[in-house]
Amino acid sequence: MIRPVLKMGDPRLLQIAAPVTAFDTPELHALIADMRDTMAALNGAGLAAPQIGVDLQLVIFGLQANPRYPDAAPVPDTVLINPELTLLGEQMDDAWEGCLSVPGMRGRVSRYTHLHYRGFDACGQIIDRTVSGFHARVVQHEVDHLLGILYPMRIADLRNFGFTEVLFPGQPISAD
Ligand code: NI
Repeated sequence: MIRPVLKMGDPRLLQIAAPVTAFDTPELHALIADMRDTMAALNGAGLAAPQIGVDLQLVIFGLQANPRYPDAAPVPDTVLINPELTLLGEQMDDAWEGCLSVPGMRGRVSRYTHLHYRGFDACGQIIDRTVSGFHARVVQHEVDHLLGILYPMRIADLRNFGFTEVLFPGQPISAD
């Protein structure tokens, strides 16, 4: 079921999310199914549970060919629960980001290039990965949602923030 996505300004997007304590439950699987439906309907690359008003440390992400991110390398479809990030090195890079909670806009954000992440899937199996580039960026963006941080808070120079249709004229307007 497609759920409404909260938009920036809603105080529920600014909370620290609570850990998931029960895995492989019907409720958890139903929540993940709703998040997948919602992300797919909006052409998102990721979605965090707080974005649909659910106060849990649960994010989903993944990217095959996505019209919102035409140049990004594929990222495997992932359910990541109670994540812990470890940064690998100090290298960062800048790229444009969007967010389903900030529709119609893009901002240029600096993110760590390399990181390790650990967490659990829906069944409680450990996920343990070392990633770089766009995959690392998506994880940092989604995990930020669990800390009450939206990407505009990470834009160092707000001149690099604007409406998608103005910044990228001629590109297909996506659903956000
Ligand atoms: Ni987002």
